[in-house]
Amino acid sequence: MPIDTKGRPIILIGLMGSGKTTIGKELSKMTGMKLIDMDSIIEEQIGKSIPEIFREKGEKHFRALETALLRYIEASINEGKGSVIISTGGGVVLKPENREILRRMGFTVWFNVEVPVLLERTSRSQNRPLLQSPDKFEILTRLNKERAPLYEESAHLKLDSTYISVQDTVPLIHEAALKFFS
Ligand code: S3P
Repeated sequence: MPIDTKGRPIILIGLMGSGKTTIGKELSKMTGMKLIDMDSIIEEQIGKSIPEIFREKGEKHFRALETALLRYIEASINEGKGSVIISTGGGVVLKPENREILRRMGFTVWFNVEVPVLLERTSRSQNRPLLQSPDKFEILTRLNKERAPLYEESAHLKLDSTYISVQDTVPLIHEAALKFFS
């Protein structure tokens, strides 16, 4: 079921473990739109994993790479290559410039998921430098509090998706995107 997005992307935002990649893959299957994952692109371009980039260059450097990539994606959309699904990293909303790009570039969906579920989904993750600490619950609670207003500001649609399955979430996004782009 393709969507005419007028050459613009559907962008998925939310905390680590909120389902951006999983839902992005299913939405990609349903719509035939290509899925691009910002973290994977950064890893490929730099030739290092996200934990290596954080360890060797620091978070600030990673954030600069993230913004540069977002600018590049927006420029390529303006060249007609924008009918894609973009899975972002959870911290993409930290910079005001990024939030502006997210709002104007396409249809942005925020997966708002409760912390205990985020914790369960990320508990065994080795590739999230911000969660390499025994007190993951505390970290996720703090990030959730700090970032909720930033996700709110960046998104066109907030989905409280804690108790909604992937199979049920995808049609909701599909329907909302059809309306948004009509
Ligand atoms: C981050 C989330 C990660 C990744 C990096 C920082 C964050 O992406 O970009 O570890 O600040 O929330 P996911 O949300 O895909 O795990």
